[in-house]
Amino acid sequence: MQIVKYPHPSLRHKAEPVTEINRNLNLLVGEMLEAMYRNAGFGLAAPQVAVSQRVLVMNFAGGAEHPDQEFVAINPVLVEVSKTIVDGREGCLSFPELFAKVRRPKRVKVQAYNLKGELYEMDCSDLAARIWQHEIDHLNGDLFIDKMGMVGRMNSKKYLTQFVEDFEFAKKSGELPKDMEPRF
Ligand code: CO
Repeated sequence: MQIVKYPHPSLRHKAEPVTEINRNLNLLVGEMLEAMYRNAGFGLAAPQVAVSQRVLVMNFAGGAEHPDQEFVAINPVLVEVSKTIVDGREGCLSFPELFAKVRRPKRVKVQAYNLKGELYEMDCSDLAARIWQHEIDHLNGDLFIDKMGMVGRMNSKKYLTQFVEDFEFAKKSGELPKDMEPRF
């Protein structure tokens, strides 16, 4: 399973709610977890593997050796966000090697379904809260480059230019469909 890179159009689609927990969903989640761990990520959203469904996988400790920190979130919802905003360094598997500060609420309350179809609620802060917000943004087609401050935007320009060149090269080489339109 390949993780798509910016400016792949899937990253800008609003994902559809999951209506049934079935074998295909289980397979999708398994492959997403594998791709997240292989790439040393803390979270991965289905649009990042070009699947337009509201599904996330996360590990707040960032590795398969911490199974208690692994979460699958189906149809997740941000229920509450704190008024306190904090700055934190963020990256994204769809933007390799690009890191920048992003301001986000410090605490969140979220609800989601797990793979058994059970609704769960989580109150968290700092890194875990940041991961939840970053990943839920993906389901709405929102990316961390949209939320960077001025310095982050300036510093990311050369990376974004390079990602666009890589995307065009992938089309020329047949790795991506020739008629695929980038979404910025
Ligand atoms: Co991301």
